[in-house]
Amino acid sequence: MADTPPAPASLADFADAARAVLPATVWDFIDGGSGTETTLRANRAALDAVAVLPRVLAGVDTPATTARLLGREQALPVAVAPMAYQRLLHPDGEPALAAAAAEAGVPYVASTLSSVPIEEITAAGGQVWFQLYWLRDRQLVCDLLDRAQAAGATAVMVTVDVPVLGRRLRDVRNSFALPPHVAAANLPGDRDDLAHAGTPGVSAVAAHTGAVFAPALGWADLEWLRARTTSPLLVKGILDPRDAARAAQAGVDAVVVSNHGGRQLDGAPATARVLPEVVTAVDGRCQVLMDSGVRGGTDVLRALALGADGVLVGRPMLWALAAGGRAGARAALELLAAELRDALTLAGCADPAAARTLRTITGG
Ligand SMILES: Cc1cc2nc3c(=O)[nH]c(=O)nc-3n(C[C@H](O)[C@H](O)[C@H](O)COP(=O)(O)O)c2cc1C
Repeated sequence: MADTPPAPASLADFADAARAVLPATVWDFIDGGSGTETTLRANRAALDAVAVLPRVLAGVDTPATTARLLGREQALPVAVAPMAYQRLLHPDGEPALAAAAAEAGVPYVASTLSSVPIEEITAAGGQVWFQLYWLRDRQLVCDLLDRAQAAGATAVMVTVDVPVLGRRLRDVRNSFALPPHVAAANLPGDRDDLAHAGTPGVSAVAAHTGAVFAPALGWADLEWLRARTTSPLLVKGILDPRDAARAAQAGVDAVVVSNHGGRQLDGAPATARVLPEVVTAVDGRCQVLMDSGVRGGTDVLRALALGADGVLVGRPMLWALAAGGRAGARAALELLAAELRDALTLAGCADPAAARTLRTITGG
């Protein structure tokens, strides 16, 4: 009889399981960062360097994990980050991860580059936020916004750190291209061939985004989007506090402090390092979320203690999807919830809001 592998004890355990089942080039596509992967490594190092001072004698029995994001109560101060092409990881793709998020009571952010149409993702139930990439074709941007809203998406998250794709050397060296069964299902197929073309020394995914994304996104475009969108609006990919202040002034509902998991500008700072300055800069005018490197409940506690309202979780959700489909993703979110509950208890916090009053020491 084959041995049953032990249940994952941490989100990192899902990475091992995913790596065992995925083609090496797909693993590299999700795991990799840009350039020398300096920012990718810095994200983890910076989170590890944040020490949180626990409060004691706080009389906390079982803390609540609920938090308000965009005016709605969520089961956790967490959302599943937007991530492209999830059918690379599992045949069920985006609807499986969206259903797991719904079961866990957290929002799922559907990428513009989903491999299943937005309508089939919202049909999985739960709260779906739509992530918008700024496309060269403004009419297509309008169509996507209308489709997402008609499908029931409850917020729009515009990603502003991808004027072009970062130079992801693993994908270049692997000449990475999408397999035939995976495509950008929300976009018209006319540039589809670019994402599937296996050209030596070229990332086909980068070639495709280069053709369809509009690099010169500006503040006037954000203001246009704010005026056009009645849903809550988040801006993802902010690192400079001056940009955060300007976004808050433009009336966004949240900024997401993100370096895209180390996949865009290599040499950009770790998000945990700039988060406190961003929190100060927006000064309560909008919410602040953070991603890039979050790997467990302790990291969620660290982000809250640094002033965030919540986090997005990226790669760990892809690991769990690859390893076990919807059930795997659900198990990963349950583990994250249990870890957060333990971290709050150990820090003497009755809920995530209390964690935002904790003190931190960086570097110790
Ligand atoms: C495979 C992959 C695909 C991604 N696709 C998108 C995307 O389509 N839109 C987007 O805004 N961010 C995308 N991201 C970035 C994530 O939303 C998030 O910022 C990042 O993964 C967070 O870092 P973490 O993976 O270390 O948690 C992607 C990340 C990965 C790993």
